[in-house]
Amino acid sequence: MTQDEMKQAVAHAARDYVAAHLPVGAILGVGTGSTANYFIDALTPMKDRLGGVIASSEATHQRLAGHGMLVLDLNDVEHIGIYVDGADEIDESLAMIKGGGGALTREKIVAAVADTFVCICDASKHVATLGRFPLPVEVIPMARAHVARQLSQLGGTPKLREGFITDNGNLILDVHGLRINQPTTLESQIDGIAGVVSNGLFARRGADVLLLATSSAVKVVK
Ligand code: 5RP
Repeated sequence: MTQDEMKQAVAHAARDYVAAHLPVGAILGVGTGSTANYFIDALTPMKDRLGGVIASSEATHQRLAGHGMLVLDLNDVEHIGIYVDGADEIDESLAMIKGGGGALTREKIVAAVADTFVCICDASKHVATLGRFPLPVEVIPMARAHVARQLSQLGGTPKLREGFITDNGNLILDVHGLRINQPTTLESQIDGIAGVVSNGLFARRGADVLLLATSSAVKVVK
């Protein structure tokens, strides 16, 4: 199977997971990226079983609405049963690096509200140690240089994502060269830098379930 075929296979497995575990009429959170897009496409035939969906980005909002889904405002919702999203890397403890698409802050908010986070990945994303993928950090524009200096002190090499503005009007610094042995500690350290909005480590609130597509099957890891 190609990587794209694996993304489609795991998207279909996630649709089946939602059908089996999310009560009819409940709210579903939906992530951002190419794997999440395949999930949205697979989900469409069962849209009438959902009470509504929460989008983790403007792009996902557009795609969900284009497929006729009821997209709700998170402020009007108390409960999200399941959140389905991709990742850039995921380790054995189900800690992740996310934000390759730049949607990390809204993704982290939706994940915080959801009862169950289901991560959908192809096998290339499953790693022993996080950090080969550059860690995205969303930054308030006036703090860019300050935050970059602080990230360098943590051992990384931050690079501005050129020509990119997040849905929240901020910048992304992609931090190269980090070998992340203690993801929860680093997540908190980076969040503590003045001017950081959020960072792409999802370790304090990692995934609850991983659906992992290999070339022969989709495995369930909990
Ligand atoms: C977007 C994300 C995505 O989940 C991540 O980048 C994976 O994307 P893809 O499914 O396209 O490989 O965190 O901010």
